[in-house]
Amino acid sequence: MSHSRLLDLLLSQPGQYVSGEEISRKLSISRTAVWKQINKLREEGYEFDAVSRKGYRLISKPERLEYSGLLQAMNTKSFGRKLKLLEVTTSTQEEVRLLAELGAAEGTLVIAEEQTIGRGRQGRRWHSPAGKGVWMSLLLRPPLPLTRAPQLTLLSAVAVCRAIRAVTGVEVGIKWPNDLLVHGRKICGILLESIGEDEMIRYCIAGVGIDANLEPSDLPPELRTIATSLQIESGRKVDRVVLIGAVIAELEKFYELYLEEGFAPIGHLWEALSVTTGQDITVKTAQGEVRGRAMGLDENGGLLVMQEDHRLTTIFSGE
Ligand code: BTN
Repeated sequence: MSHSRLLDLLLSQPGQYVSGEEISRKLSISRTAVWKQINKLREEGYEFDAVSRKGYRLISKPERLEYSGLLQAMNTKSFGRKLKLLEVTTSTQEEVRLLAELGAAEGTLVIAEEQTIGRGRQGRRWHSPAGKGVWMSLLLRPPLPLTRAPQLTLLSAVAVCRAIRAVTGVEVGIKWPNDLLVHGRKICGILLESIGEDEMIRYCIAGVGIDANLEPSDLPPELRTIATSLQIESGRKVDRVVLIGAVIAELEKFYELYLEEGFAPIGHLWEALSVTTGQDITVKTAQGEVRGRAMGLDENGGLLVMQEDHRLTTIFSGE
């Protein structure tokens, strides 16, 4: 007996309780087997009401990403139109890297319901539970020198921040360079990995991880005070398909703008969304710690920091 026969039976009587006895009779399985199947389905994200003497009622199904729905949501010219959707993978960054090496086109997108070794910045892990978030990576092939890659990081933050705001109304802000925060807690991380050749970018992989529908119990204890989710902040589930469509459309729009007009317009948008500008900060760079007040971005996307001795420094990467 497959799970789906039990599900079909409950779905055929929407909103109704179906007794264990009826299920067991119709599917020719024992009452214990019914109970086991229900528990298995619960683990997969189905929710049931179980009332003694009445039976079982299906309350909700797990929200699954579907290939055709995702393609329909892509309101873009090319980004996301070549799409790979996976139930589970180690990291969508790895998936895109393999596709890129095989010659995949710019705009190729890989989305996974779950990542087992999600990658964060600075060699950290990215917690990516099944069916709860947006875990995706986009392939870019900009004709630019490697030195410009940090600007693409800032561009990605602007695009994702605007899309999240538009879809959910949650007031997300950007912490330099590209963490998205709500009330000081991280809601989204962006990882831009660039592969170069002769000082030019061969390709970039823009990885976006959005904590969309995580509940507090989905966050491991060490993240509970520093991370949050759109569902926790807004009190309702976000439609991940709509969110993905909006993020990819913003990424395409700002990427085109950037290739046409350079970094200046992106820089202004970044500053408008930044929660870093004007703050006293400490940045860990490869050269050591820099302390001072964040003054905004320079024309190349470097962070201007007024140090305690009033010297102005520009930082391009750090934490
Ligand atoms: C960060 O540390 O803030 C960056 C996190 C980036 C996570 C995303 S999830 C999709 C993509 N695949 C990964 O393994 N990482 C990125």
